Amino acid sequence: MTDSPSITAYWDAAAADFDAEPDHGLRAKETRAAWSDLLTSWLPSGRSRVLDVGCGTGSLSELLAESGHRVTGVDLSPRMVDRARAKLSAAGLSGRFLVGDAAAPPTGDERFDVLLSRHLVWTLPDPEAALGEWVGRIRPGGTLILVEGRWRESGRSGVPYVAGAETLPWHGGVTADVLSAAVRPLVTELCIESLAGDAALWGGPVTDERYALVARV
Ligand SMILES: C[S@@+](CC[C@H](N)C(=O)[O-])C[C@H]1O[C@@H](n2cnc3c(N)ncnc32)[C@H](O)[C@@H]1O
Repeated sequence: MTDSPSITAYWDAAAADFDAEPDHGLRAKETRAAWSDLLTSWLPSGRSRVLDVGCGTGSLSELLAESGHRVTGVDLSPRMVDRARAKLSAAGLSGRFLVGDAAAPPTGDERFDVLLSRHLVWTLPDPEAALGEWVGRIRPGGTLILVEGRWRESGRSGVPYVAGAETLPWHGGVTADVLSAAVRPLVTELCIESLAGDAALWGGPVTDERYALVARV
């Protein structure tokens, strides 16, 4: 099994270089625009309350705040949260960022219009319990958006993920079929959108499975 302090330490250590990856930092205009367009297509029109779980350095939170949404980001890693706060502040945007476990986001009984999570579920010791918890944080009629995949490698290249990671249920990522089977009983509508074919999202072509699951609660 993995333990939470070693997971936090791993991501704290990853925070400084995290945005160097094209799909993390969204520094290229084309990549940024591609993610912005996707988020716009998934979110309802108007100003939504969005919970970004496992927000990392806040790149998607920033795009959402830019579009006028009210964003709350939660991440286990204090250094990721520091960077997310700094990123929005530097852009003159507002957002709330909290250090906390995705398994139980520290947002009390607040309900959100949208819960977004990108590339997180593979790290969770009990992802199915977390999904149940997340759906409970979304108002009836709200939207769950999970951007996920099944990768050839997990963890930063050359840096193995935490000891015991191979016992994580979705280590290496989760296929759309497996994630859909876990989410379907919790929601009223669900669709899968493949994201593997759009090289702009990733900073180049990819050959592994990448997709978004978008569901109505
Ligand atoms: C691959 S990164 C994705 C970050 C961000 N969602 C993105 O797409 O750029 C995974 C993030 O999940 C966070 N994380 C890992 N386990 C977590 C947990 N149990 N609770 C909250 N955040 C967690 C890490 O600190 C890291 O920021």
